[in-house]
Amino acid sequence: MRLLDDHIRANDPLEAYKLRRHLLDKYTKSYPTLYSHEATRIYGFFDLFKDLKSVPGDLVECGVGRGRFLTIFAFANQFFQMNRDLYGFDSFQGFPVASKQDFGTRVKKEEKITGWDDVTPELIYHILGHDLDAEGSKSTLDEQGVKRVKLIPGYFNETLERNLPERIAFLHLDADLYQSTVDVLQACLPRMSAGGVLVFDELHEEEKWPGVKQAVDEICHPLGLTPVWHKALQRYIIHMVK
Ligand SMILES: C[S@@+](CC[C@H](N)C(=O)[O-])C[C@H]1O[C@@H](n2cnc3c(N)ncnc32)[C@H](O)[C@@H]1O
Repeated sequence: MRLLDDHIRANDPLEAYKLRRHLLDKYTKSYPTLYSHEATRIYGFFDLFKDLKSVPGDLVECGVGRGRFLTIFAFANQFFQMNRDLYGFDSFQGFPVASKQDFGTRVKKEEKITGWDDVTPELIYHILGHDLDAEGSKSTLDEQGVKRVKLIPGYFNETLERNLPERIAFLHLDADLYQSTVDVLQACLPRMSAGGVLVFDELHEEEKWPGVKQAVDEICHPLGLTPVWHKALQRYIIHMVK
């Protein structure tokens, strides 16, 4: 209980991460720690990645947060020997101010919503670079795999145009808000390769994040891009036509 208390109170994200690993290793080792929806999503991402080998372009996540999914993408990139760069964009200072298009069950005012401001690029690089299990067995992510990860801090409207790769084979859009989704779609869609894939993390949660649906309706639909439901991911995706 003391360790749990320390974990909850830790101000330093790196210390909090180390404590979390310690708690998981020590106390939950022989128990399942993945929920079914988490397991199926990991499978879903690997399933998408296996078909991207012949699609030119790099991998992009907009809305890195604590890097949970970025870590999965880094593993999949290496597992399928795709040898792509993996770009992660985030303010690393939390959300920008929400707009009225976002008003729903979560956002009620045009103000900065709280959370997701406790992570730094350094912490995520550390997590990727110290991926050893309790027995110290070797990480499946090698040094080259970690070097492929390029984290770009700053708000999308200031970072995307200058730092995006020329071609994108895979885009994970996990930014929750209307204007953030607009900024990402406008910057990334013209760079998506034929055969590439775009995954929306919140498009199915219209009541909570209505701004994402509105941005997709305004930008994707006029271009003839229709999101389809991916059963394993439990998310909407768009396959860019070949
Ligand atoms: C729900 S979190 C992402 C979760 C993450 N994909 C994961 O696996 O843990 C949303 C992230 O989007 C970022 N974000 C939202 N709008 C942004 C913007 N306009 N510019 C930069 N970052 C933004 C926030 O800082 C936050 O970290």
